[in-house]
Amino acid sequence: MTIPAIPRWHFGMMNDQDRNKPLRDAIVATVRPDDLVLDIGTGGGLTALWAARCGAYVVSCEANPAVADLARRIVAANMLSHRITIVEGMSTDLRIGPAGLPRPADVLTAEVFDCALIGEGALPALADARARLLAPDARLIPAAGTLWAQVVDSASLHELNHVHTVDGFDLSAFNAASTPGYFLQHVDGHRHSPLTDPFELLRFDFAGEPVPVSGTARHQVPTIHRGMAHAAVLWFSLDLGHGYELANPPGRARHWHQGVYTFPVPIPTIPGGSLCVEVEYEGTALRLRPAQSETAPTLPTPAGEKAATRAGGRQDDGAPRGRDR
Ligand SMILES: C[S@@+](CC[C@H](N)C(=O)[O-])C[C@H]1O[C@@H](n2cnc3c(N)ncnc32)[C@H](O)[C@@H]1O
Repeated sequence: MTIPAIPRWHFGMMNDQDRNKPLRDAIVATVRPDDLVLDIGTGGGLTALWAARCGAYVVSCEANPAVADLARRIVAANMLSHRITIVEGMSTDLRIGPAGLPRPADVLTAEVFDCALIGEGALPALADARARLLAPDARLIPAAGTLWAQVVDSASLHELNHVHTVDGFDLSAFNAASTPGYFLQHVDGHRHSPLTDPFELLRFDFAGEPVPVSGTARHQVPTIHRGMAHAAVLWFSLDLGHGYELANPPGRARHWHQGVYTFPVPIPTIPGGSLCVEVEYEGTALRLRPAQSETAPTLPTPAGEKAATRAGGRQDDGAPRGRDR
């Protein structure tokens, strides 16, 4: 039997014990018997199964019909069909009523985070759930998320997305095809030296104010070494509550990669200097504008660059974001 269109990263994710343990422990610490749990993104069903094992009733929605079908089989095989209902479709289409959630949920579980936090559509999903599907005092797993960045000197990472002269030939016209957003990479496989300390690029309080699905921020970041700022390495940390955290920084071999955002024009740095890093995000799309602080010029962008779209979890480079994490 061939099952179409299920990204292979599901396997690595389900077997990633460094991911599973804090998620499971946070669910066990949070969910009470007879809670109604809304689980956004069923996948293989793990988050729903953990919540059901705590005695909760779970409505779990899954956008991918083939995944939803497998999840139903898994739930049945584990004899938890009386506690878990899988609803096929996007959480944003879920309604409160007989075919959806019987009432606003007491607990939200949502593990819909790509390596740079927002690329799997977590922000619109969580904003919508907060507005429509949760009780006012609902407990959220995760309760908050931070997108971290660190500017690095790395010709190796830059060369994954830009080209200049090769063997005496000028190939730079090809840079019109550079990925304008971030792309996935295990950065430990590339020589890179940090030019800044890690800094909080964006922080979201999922349980507090309405979750903003778009916004901008500007950071003045001290530079600590002399070098060329070729790229920013991106990763997230999630506050799962009760002291549990999930994160994918460089140096940890988890199924998640890091995000790499290359700068079209590398910027020289010195110790004691600073970079101005502007970030703009909308839904699943992220744009960085780095500049030397004194001048703060807007960097030239590759021809044809435009705001990223969200359809199907893709960024504007056309690469399927669901292909890997
Ligand atoms: C990363 S997997 C997590 C699976 C499971 N919850 C776990 O933690 O093991 C996320 C799944 O959510 C689905 N998904 C992502 N956003 C969704 C949304 N807003 N509504 C419904 N399904 C969504 C994806 O198709 C994918 O199968």
